[in-house]
Amino acid sequence: EQIEKGGYEHFMLKEIFEQPKSIHDTLRGRLLVEEGIIKMAGIWDNLERLNQAQKITIIACGTSWHAGLIGEYLIEEFARIPVEVEYASEFRYRNPIISEKDIVIAISQSGETADTMAAIKMAKEKGAFVYGICNVVDSSISRVTDAGSYTHAGPEIGVASTKAFTAQLTVLSLIALKLGKHNGHLSNQEFMRLCTELETIPQKVQEVLESTHEITKEIAKSFVDAQNFLYLGRGYNFPAALEGALKLKEISYIHAEGYPAAEMKHGPIALIDENMPIVIIAPRQGHYDKIVSNVQEIKARKGKVIAVVNKGDTQVASVADYVIEFPETSECFSPIIASVPLQLLAYYIAVYRGANVDQPRNLAKSVTVE
Ligand code: G6P
Repeated sequence: EQIEKGGYEHFMLKEIFEQPKSIHDTLRGRLLVEEGIIKMAGIWDNLERLNQAQKITIIACGTSWHAGLIGEYLIEEFARIPVEVEYASEFRYRNPIISEKDIVIAISQSGETADTMAAIKMAKEKGAFVYGICNVVDSSISRVTDAGSYTHAGPEIGVASTKAFTAQLTVLSLIALKLGKHNGHLSNQEFMRLCTELETIPQKVQEVLESTHEITKEIAKSFVDAQNFLYLGRGYNFPAALEGALKLKEISYIHAEGYPAAEMKHGPIALIDENMPIVIIAPRQGHYDKIVSNVQEIKARKGKVIAVVNKGDTQVASVADYVIEFPETSECFSPIIASVPLQLLAYYIAVYRGANVDQPRNLAKSVTVE
């Protein structure tokens, strides 16, 4: 096992550090920037059906569901097809409105999750075309879906998903850009700009790993005894906040909640005092000024702010208690990069609490029963 861990203390840390490669592998042979194309057989072979979809429903569980939420933002922004995201366990029991004109995208690292399998079966019975995004090759879900794209993250052993999540975001980015290009909603120029940026993501993830490894370790030490955590983000980084909170819950057993930053005033603000750490993801794009005022509201209530900001940020950084910097990218790809220091932070807090990081209590890597 030590050999399999490749010198890392845990599989989770190894998998966090594998992300530049897993994202690169997921892009390889698909994102051909020089030729100006995205090559994905599953999408190409079904292009008409996909682009004529009345709506797309994304179904998934856990971390994959968070990837689905970001998929909604991506597909609606670039391909302008309406998207809904549902927990597979809810979808399967509520008689949803699904017809032959619908596309269902099922996202699953393992390809074996029982609720996702059952939801796919129901969607197929209703005539929908089901597209799978799985990591495990030849898994049950990859076999029952009508078409699909694999994430090429490689085997993920740590129960808390890390590299599979960023690979899912990578595939969803490719799909959204490809659909948008072919249905005319994305100009060629914009398509090329985004493809060029997407190609830099593995390198930027490498940079963020190197630049935030020590600081997340340091910050983690200050919060070993925290009882609660709040994670906030807006737009594309709202689901990244949910995923950051889930990582912490799963492995450290600290209660954590993710929230859209602007919703703070409708509830979580009541919890803020000097004992509440708040991780806030605030890249320069999007609604940066709004986030700045959220941070000021938190500081006025003495909350401890851990700001995850772009390199060189001054406004948020000047009022935050702790600052984690990440390289700038297009807003739509920022969750891929911003998620990495959040994984490291959760990892080190759990390690310092002496938790079993790779096999947290009560959790399973793949949930094959209801
Ligand atoms: C379990 C795992 C999570 C995972 C979820 C969905 O809860 O512990 O890490 O996100 O199942 O799994 P899937 O394989 O369908 O993505």
